Amino acid sequence: MERLQKVLAQAGVASRRRCEELIVQGSVEVNGKLVRELGTKVDPERDRIVVNGKPIKLERHVYLLLHKPTGVITSLSDPQGRRVVTDLLKGVKERVYPVGRLDYDTSGLLLLTNDGELANRLAHPSYEIDKVYRAWVKGIPSAESIKRLATGVRLEDGMTSPGRARLLKTSSDKQKAWIELTIHEGRNRQVRRMCEAIGHPVLTLERVRLGFLTLEGLRPGDYRLLTSEEVNKLKRGLQQRKQAKRGPL
Ligand code: URA
Repeated sequence: MERLQKVLAQAGVASRRRCEELIVQGSVEVNGKLVRELGTKVDPERDRIVVNGKPIKLERHVYLLLHKPTGVITSLSDPQGRRVVTDLLKGVKERVYPVGRLDYDTSGLLLLTNDGELANRLAHPSYEIDKVYRAWVKGIPSAESIKRLATGVRLEDGMTSPGRARLLKTSSDKQKAWIELTIHEGRNRQVRRMCEAIGHPVLTLERVRLGFLTLEGLRPGDYRLLTSEEVNKLKRGLQQRKQAKRGPL
């Protein structure tokens, strides 16, 4: 048995909070009876749940790891007709959404799922899930600049939260460098703006890790389903972080 608002959110009706409002305002029926109590438990497999007269549709949760190539937008459709990430997911029937976004010019790891609750938690900075990026930048950042990336850079939408940064390698002509940056936020074009702010614009950007998930075995354009062990590990890790702040993710 599960809480009604959780089942509604999982069925994609709306966010958990909005689903609570729908219940309280009397838009939800369970087995033909109006339910307004938030604590109500239901069996999503057996109970007939109706929102504003429409039965909810429960989908099997799927979790996909895509190696997004550059030249594809992280969106479900594009009015300009550019390639979108879901074009790469041939054979996936479920309606999955990206967890966070990668720019058109950024490649790398993108998780897609129809599990709204897991997606919200993973994307929320308070869970401090590592998002690890490798950036090929112009010039060679000094130790001081690398430290600024890690401790916080002032952007027009405020200081970035602390993360980690290191210089990986410099080009033989000493004109460019690879840096690795670990952040927990997901602001628009954040890594590009951080590097720009320290005077080293990004030439190439790739996300290589999200929590414990990596791109291992996936070529650009390829995707795979997460294994049930990986899904359980993600859920356990998020639950532990909720309770104790830090955990194995
Ligand atoms: N930061 C960026 O600048 N771009 C991305 O795609 C992801 C993080």
